[in-house]
Amino acid sequence: MDIQPKKKSLPHVLIFPCPAQGHVNPMLKLAELLAIQNIYITFLNTKYIHNRLIQFNDDIQALLECYPKLQFKTISDFHSEEKHPGFGEKVGDVILSLSLYGKPLLKDIIVSEKISCIILDGIFGDLATDLAAEFGIQLIHFRTISACCFWAYLSVPKLLECNELPIKGDEDMDRIIRNVPGMENLLRCRDLPSFRKMDDSDTILDKAALLTQQSLKGNALILNTFENLESPALSQIRLHAPKLYTIGPLHHHLNTTKKTSSSSSSSSKSNFFEVDRTCMTWLESQPLKSVVYVSFGSITPMKGEEIIEIWHGLLNSKKPFLWVIRPNMVQEKGLLKELEEGTTKEKGMIVGWVPQEEVLSHKAIGAFLTHSGWNSTLESVVCGVPMICWPYFADQQINSRFVSDVWKLGLDMKDVCDRKVVENMVNDVMVNRKEEFVRSAMDIAKLASKSVSPGGSSYNNFQDLIQYIRSTSP
Ligand code: UDX
Repeated sequence: MDIQPKKKSLPHVLIFPCPAQGHVNPMLKLAELLAIQNIYITFLNTKYIHNRLIQFNDDIQALLECYPKLQFKTISDFHSEEKHPGFGEKVGDVILSLSLYGKPLLKDIIVSEKISCIILDGIFGDLATDLAAEFGIQLIHFRTISACCFWAYLSVPKLLECNELPIKGDEDMDRIIRNVPGMENLLRCRDLPSFRKMDDSDTILDKAALLTQQSLKGNALILNTFENLESPALSQIRLHAPKLYTIGPLHHHLNTTKKTSSSSSSSSKSNFFEVDRTCMTWLESQPLKSVVYVSFGSITPMKGEEIIEIWHGLLNSKKPFLWVIRPNMVQEKGLLKELEEGTTKEKGMIVGWVPQEEVLSHKAIGAFLTHSGWNSTLESVVCGVPMICWPYFADQQINSRFVSDVWKLGLDMKDVCDRKVVENMVNDVMVNRKEEFVRSAMDIAKLASKSVSPGGSSYNNFQDLIQYIRSTSP
């Protein structure tokens, strides 16, 4: 009698991002990359987010048709539609409710879909740690932040022990931090990841540090970065998380994979807002590398006076600008109307939401005034666009320090919001010091492309990740 070896079933990966734009974007790119590899994927969103994806992305249905092994599932976030905190500044309320009450729902999905591996957004802390152990499945944490930020969070206990933390008020901000190995003499207090602009006491920093410790409790860790960009921080992280896959920049990895496989479909989109494409026509009419693209991501709130300072700084710089002001960003509607009228006169454009990857790769873009969100930073890096940074929270403070002082890709406004500073920095980046910034931006863009091409570090690490995921099926 022939004894056939037991056939392995196919792996089935559950991917669960935090319900925020900067998290769903890279995790959906990862889902598509895995789907190309013929791996079963269940992509889990809260109902609130899923509805927005359907509403604002025509190609979601096409994505499902293209990859029959990819499916979307939804989960309740325990908030009613009418009183929903949304996905902006109050997204922490949704993360909290999911972390507190989401486990049974997750358990149902693991059972009903016969999940063999979970890729969980690390911002959910230990939400899936017990479940993975109970079902004997693999748990991979995915962090959407930079490696330098991840390492700074991991260093927080040491900084407390050495009395380098907490920060003692505004006058303490320029003190140099010495106990983040690999970053000695680089970070000032003001460059540490921070939530000060949301919460004066900065107690969230302790929670963020704790979540990062919990990210180490999975079987593996994924970071959306590449080796050549952040190797010192990555070497430090590997001492705590040896199974670390750096597979980014994910959007570029996906685009490159699709290009090399001659796929005709474009990469998945996951906009939470309606995209205004009129800006692309406007960009066509602008001279080469002349436009400042301005966007502060999906969460940063702005006070009226900050908007006014940035606006005057841009006008005084005399460079055309394309500025994303999200529908929910300005409370004073009169102010928005005033800006729009004044801007049009001055040959600028204000829009609610743009196709950012496409904008950054347009030949008319010469600089990016950004909040230094990690996705935006990587998108700018890939396109070789120099940056002016005005960070708001979390990893953005340390990302902007790296952009200006390590990668030399631009300038960091940090805690200042002043029209003269905006004007000067725009002129420095686009005129006075243009060559040096463009040179380093081009060099790093080349490294990014190399990393996701066959034989590159992110490419190879992704192959290893697939092997690992395949090995998880029972
Ligand atoms: C947040 C944090 O800022 C970030 O640091 C963290 O790592 C992830 O979550 P967010 O503030 O939204 O995200 O910024 P960012 O990470 O830059 O993500 C914004 C995304 O929205 C980018 O992928 C960007 O391309 C996209 N976007 C932004 C658009 O598609 N259109 C726009 O008009 C503006």
